[in-house]
Amino acid sequence: MNNYEKISTVPLTTFLKHSFRIVKNPLPFHHKNFEERGDIFCLNLGLITKVYFCRDASFAEYILQKNQKNYTKSKIQTKDLAKYIGKGLLTAEGQHWRKQRKLIQPAFHKKHLESLLDTIQTAIRSEYQRITANETVDIFPILNDLAFQTVVKSLFSSAVGRDKIDRLQYITEEAQKMLVKELRQPYLRWWFNLSGTTKKYIDLTLEARQTLKQAVKQRQESDVKQGDLLDLLLEAQYDDGSFMEEEQLIDEILILFTAGHETTSNALTFTFQLLALYPEWQDKIYNEIIEVNAQTTDLIARVMASKVCQQVIEEAMRLYPPAYFIDRVNLEDDNFNGFEFKAGSNLLLSVFEMHRNPKFWKNPEQFLPERFAEGSRPYAPHYFPFGAGPRKCIGNNFAMFEMIIAVRELILNYIIKPEFNSIEIAPLITLKPKNAYLRFEKRG
Ligand code: HEM
Repeated sequence: MNNYEKISTVPLTTFLKHSFRIVKNPLPFHHKNFEERGDIFCLNLGLITKVYFCRDASFAEYILQKNQKNYTKSKIQTKDLAKYIGKGLLTAEGQHWRKQRKLIQPAFHKKHLESLLDTIQTAIRSEYQRITANETVDIFPILNDLAFQTVVKSLFSSAVGRDKIDRLQYITEEAQKMLVKELRQPYLRWWFNLSGTTKKYIDLTLEARQTLKQAVKQRQESDVKQGDLLDLLLEAQYDDGSFMEEEQLIDEILILFTAGHETTSNALTFTFQLLALYPEWQDKIYNEIIEVNAQTTDLIARVMASKVCQQVIEEAMRLYPPAYFIDRVNLEDDNFNGFEFKAGSNLLLSVFEMHRNPKFWKNPEQFLPERFAEGSRPYAPHYFPFGAGPRKCIGNNFAMFEMIIAVRELILNYIIKPEFNSIEIAPLITLKPKNAYLRFEKRG
């Protein structure tokens, strides 16, 4: 008998019965089935299509690292998302991906990022000017713009004006919304194609490509080096000494916009909501800022010394991982711990569940940043907000630097009060916050 039988399976009828609720928020459905069926269960989506859900950390490690060669990204990224933002790091596969990763990786090295920190800090300070003290503010839109501005300014310095950045952001977000629509209503895809809806969004991304091409052209014609990410990407050479083609460069830039802004703004929003609920951690961060600022004026030294701040962000991403699932498909038949997976199986690794599994975490539902204190860092395979293995987030250091600066800047100037009862989430492609209302009191 095939070991397939061993994996507990949710029948299609059960899924269909609750589909409306599941599509709105799949997390309770995942949790219930993990509790009842074990750390790997299967969902039948018809006669052939099966999705395996996993919250087994060693299986996740096997898929993402130990046997990663047998696993590819799902069609959602390689086809559906690529349709709008092209074939770059996030959406490419195989040899093409490897070549791009090798070329781009050095630009995201810590030593290069250090030279961007002042740009990042200026972008953050500028967005924080929109915060009005003693008023209730939904912080998410501000942090969303902040994260977009930060990526654009790190790439282009000041070469792209505010109007153009706003338009690029609008297009990036609209394309993502359209993708969510297609994923939620796959039965309407034929209509989206026939009615010209899909084309409308593809045309929008063509407009973004045009804007980016102009900015790249201006830079190529200029003799002045800006020392930003664009300079590094233009100078980067493949093994044969050649440079990135223009269309490929535009794909990569659109991908950095998409991958780098919503994830960061989600993580920051949840961090500030948690800080609002746990003011003692605001005090700890504030005290750390005062102490560190007295020791050094160097921004990178300040960021590196902000250990409490880092622990708070790490704990926020444990409880609310922006990339709350990672999906893969196996190329060849595989087996793990006696379970067999036919080639072409869809595997969904629940980062959210692994980050809250009591097998790995003491008091998993509690906000305890001290669990990330140096010397007590948890074992990596069950904590991976940035993914793991060769496809781990290329922007993880960028994101951590940016978030530390963003938290420091806000806590230095304001005390945050919650204007919500409990943290609300909207799990779409990323885990998004909802109704993140806060009140800011200026520090004396
Ligand atoms: C808190 C913020 C962020 C989180 C939680 C996050 C999370 C992730 C995760 C989980 C992956 C792996 C996906 C997979 O294996 O399927 C990933 C990949 C990626 N991320 Fe991030 N990310 C963040 C910020 C950023 C930033 C700021 C950038 C760039 C500026 C970025 C660029 C990318 C790219 C290009 C990839 C694809 C890498 C590859 O496949 O080679 N991310 N990210």
